[in-house]
Amino acid sequence: MSQIENVLHESRSFPPSSEFREQAHVSSEEQYQRMYAESIEEPEVFWDRVAKNLPWIEPYQTVLEPAEAGRARWFGGGQLNASAVCLDQHLEHNGDKVALLWEGEPGDSRSLTYAELHRDVCRLANVLRERGVSKGDRVAIYMPMIPELAMAVLACARLGAIHSVVFGGFSAQALADRIDDGQCQAVITADGAWRRGKVLPLKREVDLALEGRPEVHTVLTVRRTENEVAWQEGRDVWFHEAMEGASEECAPEPMDSEDILFLLYTSGSTGKPKGIMHSTGGYMVGAYLSARYVFDLKDDDVFWCTADVGWITGHSYIVYGPMANGATQVMYEGAPNAPHEGRFWEICAKYKVSVFYTAPTAIRAFMKWGDEHVEGHDLSSLRLLGSVGEPINPEAWMWYRRTIGGERCPIVDTWWQTETGGIMLTPLPGVTATKPGSCTRPFFGVDAAILDEDGNRLPTNAGGLLAIRKPWPSMLRGIWGDAERFEETYWSKWPGVYFPGDGARVDEDGCFWILGRVDDVINVSGHRLSTMEVESALVAHESVVEAAVVGRPDDLTGQAIVAFVTPGKGVGTSEELKQALQEHVAAEIGKLARPAEIRLTDALPKTRSGKIMRRLLRDIAAGVETVQDISTIEDQDVLVKLRGDDQ
Ligand code: PRX
Repeated sequence: MSQIENVLHESRSFPPSSEFREQAHVSSEEQYQRMYAESIEEPEVFWDRVAKNLPWIEPYQTVLEPAEAGRARWFGGGQLNASAVCLDQHLEHNGDKVALLWEGEPGDSRSLTYAELHRDVCRLANVLRERGVSKGDRVAIYMPMIPELAMAVLACARLGAIHSVVFGGFSAQALADRIDDGQCQAVITADGAWRRGKVLPLKREVDLALEGRPEVHTVLTVRRTENEVAWQEGRDVWFHEAMEGASEECAPEPMDSEDILFLLYTSGSTGKPKGIMHSTGGYMVGAYLSARYVFDLKDDDVFWCTADVGWITGHSYIVYGPMANGATQVMYEGAPNAPHEGRFWEICAKYKVSVFYTAPTAIRAFMKWGDEHVEGHDLSSLRLLGSVGEPINPEAWMWYRRTIGGERCPIVDTWWQTETGGIMLTPLPGVTATKPGSCTRPFFGVDAAILDEDGNRLPTNAGGLLAIRKPWPSMLRGIWGDAERFEETYWSKWPGVYFPGDGARVDEDGCFWILGRVDDVINVSGHRLSTMEVESALVAHESVVEAAVVGRPDDLTGQAIVAFVTPGKGVGTSEELKQALQEHVAAEIGKLARPAEIRLTDALPKTRSGKIMRRLLRDIAAGVETVQDISTIEDQDVLVKLRGDDQ
């Protein structure tokens, strides 16, 4: 609540400087209004003009085929290849331009030009093809943030194989679930990943995940950390050995616009993660345009998006969007505080980063660590800052503007989702007057509104449900293997309208303020987790009878996970059990899902029909008075006990 109230009282506004405005791609309110109006009223005209900038193998016949919103088809009849959009088109004039300035956590570094990246992607695509991977096959990618990760993604795209990147922080079990769901036949990984000076043994997790999964015929392993790894002859292949003999010639596979480019799993309200499907044509057009306009990318920019490629932010704004624009980027392998809290600023200074995109949770951590870690690093190359993943509190926004941006860099607070493929609500840095905590206005082609449950439009400043009323090119095309859930989750609340699951309001200037999720999704450090997913992990533990998981506000991570657990009989001391359960969840899902707090309780508050009263638990976890009607609670004693535990 405190954050929502804060946001309600926020009235500061920061228009871009005339200096920034004059050089920006979109540089006046009139231009934005004209382009926005066209993108909504004549989407075919607007998107045709944008899409013409991509190197199509076969031109499209239609821009947008009329259909119910969830089934819209974009750029029908067209063929292109996403890796050719990212690489081949730059070779003639910009082959020697640096694509990646990579910094390893231990301090090693590599730089790769577009021509070099193209060569390695072709070789890797040939390696995969020789191992039997072809168009439409699914390949799981479970890697650290090293250049080979970008190569793996682009090599799959080159063959038309569907990549499914699984964040390297997920556990073997989470990886296995995703491999099963997507029926992946090959895995690309590394021996290990560096994390705060320690090795995370990725290949070992892959081996565990693949126990009893003979359908995975190939595991390609990059040597990164040189830790010892087990080896299964026939299945396991060293990346460097396979690349050595591979040909540098590999024609990009012509893909239909609507062919699937990738799957990316994300959490929803139920326990099972959803394999979000993205298309080739529409997704690439959306990623290209949003990267260009939101980050105002120019030829001499050095762009740094600090996300991991394991999340959608890394897909759209490390690999596909910036590379479609031929940008030079920084890619960093490790943690922001390894080996010291000034590492990000050291990197910004070293590579003269001009556009920097990170998450509120990181910004809050930098604030906590103190300004002394920023001071002494020359950040004068920065000209634009971005934020993504969760609502940014005005204090963090102001700190970001002052301490990192030197009061001169516009901040683009970008709202979007795995499902939307690209940025949806955002300032345009040369035009929009930004406000601390607001993601401001819709991007081109985005018809956003605040509705109530019945689909009525709500008045200015009234909190309601965010809705997207028209299809957009980079929208998700479905949930892998679950058409029904796709309809049900996103398109069933209001006919033909997309429901993102967020609450929001619009102020008198037409600026959007996101109020957070309205479903059972917790956003920890900008990562989505479903309460049900964590609950399933908990009840799978032998000592747990029942569990309910909620999010509570957290200064650093936005939300933190609190688990209310009813233990079985005779399970040791409660401290031991709490710790065991935290470890258990980390092992089942990944460290990011480890509950910040476990509260043991004899019983959970339930309605008479047996439903766990989560909203009540949320209030208890947050330590606030509940405004909920508790008269329906089955056993009032439970509440008293839970509250008592609170004091
Ligand atoms: O609740 C919104 C929040 O993150 C959710 C999407 O999570 P995910 O699919 O993991 O993608 C994160 C990166 C794009 C949204 O439903 N969210 C994302 N960006 C913002 C945000 N909330 C407020 N402001 C943002 N800028």
